[in-house]
Amino acid sequence: MKVAVLGFGTVGQGVYEMLRHARGLEPGAVLVRPGKDDAAYKVTDITAITGDPTVGAVVEVLGGIEPARTWVEQALLAGKHVVTANKALVAECGPELANLAREKGVAFLFSAACGGGVPFLHNLALSTQSDEILTVGGILNGTTNYMLDAMQSRGADYAEVLKDAQQLGYAEADPTADVSGLDALRKIMLACAVAFEKLPAQGLYNEGIQNLTAADVKHFQSLGYTCRLVAKGGPVADTVFAFVEPTLVPASAAECAVKDNYNLARYEAKCAGDIVLMGQGAGRFPTASAVLRDLSDVVSGQRVMMPENCARVTADCSGCGHPYYVRLPEAFAGMLPCDKVTVADGVARVITKSVTVKEMHDTVAALRDKGAQVFFAGIEE
Ligand SMILES: NC(=O)c1ccc[n+]([C@@H]2O[C@H](COP(=O)([O-])OP(=O)(O)OC[C@H]3O[C@@H](n4cnc5c(N)ncnc54)[C@H](OP(=O)(O)O)[C@@H]3O)[C@@H](O)[C@H]2O)c1
Repeated sequence: MKVAVLGFGTVGQGVYEMLRHARGLEPGAVLVRPGKDDAAYKVTDITAITGDPTVGAVVEVLGGIEPARTWVEQALLAGKHVVTANKALVAECGPELANLAREKGVAFLFSAACGGGVPFLHNLALSTQSDEILTVGGILNGTTNYMLDAMQSRGADYAEVLKDAQQLGYAEADPTADVSGLDALRKIMLACAVAFEKLPAQGLYNEGIQNLTAADVKHFQSLGYTCRLVAKGGPVADTVFAFVEPTLVPASAAECAVKDNYNLARYEAKCAGDIVLMGQGAGRFPTASAVLRDLSDVVSGQRVMMPENCARVTADCSGCGHPYYVRLPEAFAGMLPCDKVTVADGVARVITKSVTVKEMHDTVAALRDKGAQVFFAGIEE
């Protein structure tokens, strides 16, 4: 099958290189910006791909919503299979693109959009066919895991490890989507869609690591905890819960062993139990390998990863809860259901009683509205 590639950046170049050696697949044209078509295989007009009857599949690795959405639609309408690594696109318009693919009898797969090289969605989609999925989650952002691991192992502060992550190419010049938890949130949205036939579009909570300090990390270490940015999702009544937050995990947790920029994706199935997958969540070749895996699935007949009746829902995070660590000005500590409190130099470090995710995230939003500097993390029990 001849495969055209939209976008020739980090992942696009990896996909093109892997296509040159893959069994049953061959590289077709690559779509680049005008002025960058410096080789015969590079084109600047999408119709050179959608109008080419020899192209069987299109890989979209441009990023962002437009023009990716329009071009993916055009490729599907032209009867091409589509594989994408673009989580923003799938979180925004996955159900519509999947329905269009179904209508046209072609594939729409997006394994690389969640977990990079870790075959998370691929296995999750397979498991849904024979088992009931109870929860999904894990460490789904490599940039923040690198930063948290470095803060933990070197005692370094946030600004220093962010600079290192940018120099190593793990973090973008604008790291907001990674450090705010938005990137991980988009991935857990996709996992919920695949596992539970529900794409949570509202009612979601994400807290990132921007407010974490070296002093917080030292405090966690004294309590025997490691901090990781963890995403979780699961079914509840007729919707799902889905959230991302810094989480304190004990030394016995698998998440504690996830070093550097690695990811750990997990799901719990009713019959199979807990399934844990670990590997590189980003990077040129790990991500390209997930794209190639999807293309092999296309060749062997797999079609649409997103379930047929996937509905957009408002998530409900008011039923799941746990204790939290909260660092805030001493004057505000009374707003929390405290279990243990230590105070030094006007700063309170609180371990709360069990609080729901909704209540904690809403309370911290209210505290920040009052001008309080707050960091909080869930505590894995
Ligand atoms: N990098 C990873 O490790 C990774 C992992 C998992 C998923 N992903 C996803 O994969 C996708 C691509 O990521 P990436 O890291 O490869 O990004 P990237 O390095 O920025 O590559 C994107 C490429 O697309 C090109 N492009 C954008 N708009 C275009 C347009 N209108 N016409 C032609 N070319 C256009 C860009 O060209 P210019 O440079 O000229 O703008 C760039 O070459 C994203 O959705 C990302 O979320 C990436």
